Amino acid sequence: MLTRRSVLLGSAAIATAYGALRIGGARARTAFATKLPIPTLVDARAQGHAIDLVARASAHEFRPGSPVQAYGFSASYLGPTLRLRRGEETRFSIRNGLQELTTVHWHGAILPGAVDGGPHNSIRPGEAWSLSFKLDQPPATIWYHAHPHGATALQVYRGLAGLILLTDDGDADRGLPHEYGVDDLPLVLQDRAFHRDGSLAYDLGPMAAMMGMFGDTVIVNGAVAPFARIPKGLVRLRLLNGSNARTLRLGFDDGRAFHAIASDAGYLAAPVNLKDIVLAPGERYEILVDFSDGDSVALQSLPHSVGARSGMPMMRMMQAGPDRAEPVMRFEPDATLPVAKQKIPTKLDGPSAPDASKSARRREAVLEPMLGGMGMMGMMRGGARMGINGRSFDMNRVDFDAKLGTTEIWTVRSQMMAHPFHIHGTSFRILSIAGGSPPAHLAGLKDVVLVEDTVELLVPFSAPADKNHPFMTHCHILEHEDAGMMAQFTVT
Ligand code: C2O
Ligand code: CU
Ligand code: CU
Repeated sequence: MLTRRSVLLGSAAIATAYGALRIGGARARTAFATKLPIPTLVDARAQGHAIDLVARASAHEFRPGSPVQAYGFSASYLGPTLRLRRGEETRFSIRNGLQELTTVHWHGAILPGAVDGGPHNSIRPGEAWSLSFKLDQPPATIWYHAHPHGATALQVYRGLAGLILLTDDGDADRGLPHEYGVDDLPLVLQDRAFHRDGSLAYDLGPMAAMMGMFGDTVIVNGAVAPFARIPKGLVRLRLLNGSNARTLRLGFDDGRAFHAIASDAGYLAAPVNLKDIVLAPGERYEILVDFSDGDSVALQSLPHSVGARSGMPMMRMMQAGPDRAEPVMRFEPDATLPVAKQKIPTKLDGPSAPDASKSARRREAVLEPMLGGMGMMGMMRGGARMGINGRSFDMNRVDFDAKLGTTEIWTVRSQMMAHPFHIHGTSFRILSIAGGSPPAHLAGLKDVVLVEDTVELLVPFSAPADKNHPFMTHCHILEHEDAGMMAQFTVT
């Protein structure tokens, strides 16, 4: 049997292109020396419903004491956490302080195409984008990130992403912890590679163009191996896999169980008891963890078998998780911090079973590299093109039109590797995964789904998008998106 190591060493070209693949390795990383940075909370209501953000380059300390170049939204890396209330209009001004074009997309938000922030909403250097919107969808942890045509991967890698907490002020009634930064912690998880001098490395060799950029270190909120002091009680963690390409399987080093309470776009119907959870790029989960025993515990990146269905050993190897559990951060219960919650709620107000009976039509999306007769090696040498249904993304071509107010069933397939499939302008439900019904934590509101074989989705369209600002649907491996695994559609 091939090991990941023998595959890596088996080809000099690949070993060079992919030197950064193996997570952590023997690197000493047990010292959790940095306090977990908590992105600044910007509450729309407290700001008079006006939020200004500036995309800019500056110096950021991924490790304390070694500042390196990175991007952020009004921050040295990432951006503030925006708290928006359901049904309240917020005005935004987004200034582009970079030397390159950018956009800001509201991932998970159900908004008209004109303010969705996809590649058609580009902001030129020195200019600002003014917009306003209000969200009318269930409370959820959604996010925002750069989405410029062909350059999304690099801009997000450098730091252009942040969280949005969409709330209805109902968490006290739901019995959920909701004190931001105390018992309600945002955790933006991203794998990154660093040069010897500590600067961010992004080497998109042929292999990374094919598989996506994999780093060797999982960082949290822009910090390497941080620790967080938390109350000795129930703590809510809002997990976002903000990696470009890496699927993460997360769990705790003492094997403790936890409860998933929300998926991408909203609460689950009831908490789901789990010992580990898989997050593909773009996916979010909110989980409740009980720290009342007072023990320190590390969150780990665990081995997994995502991509295992692939018939191609190399792809299987690349997509798999680390060879063994790697610590990501540590939680240290602190008895002096106030404990707000001790009990897991028994019910949440997530959606009941999806009803596919009124769907207007079916659509199919096949996610595949565009081999074009060159074969795998030829394609790697020539620069990967990716496609959906045999077509690579073309900003001037609208691929299809969906009817406003209708619901469709989409069958999404992938054969060669696992792709996290995302749709703008909607929250969907998973009807089936490889012919079976989804497990409870995947049965709620979603906007990204990991496709390894075949999934069926129930997709409602309630926001309009015209041909000047169509919605995107794409693979959330950002290098695949940039390489054309994206289509655009109108909703009229
Ligand atoms: Cu988070 Cu079009 O993506
Ligand atoms: Cu999106
Ligand atoms: Cu992909």
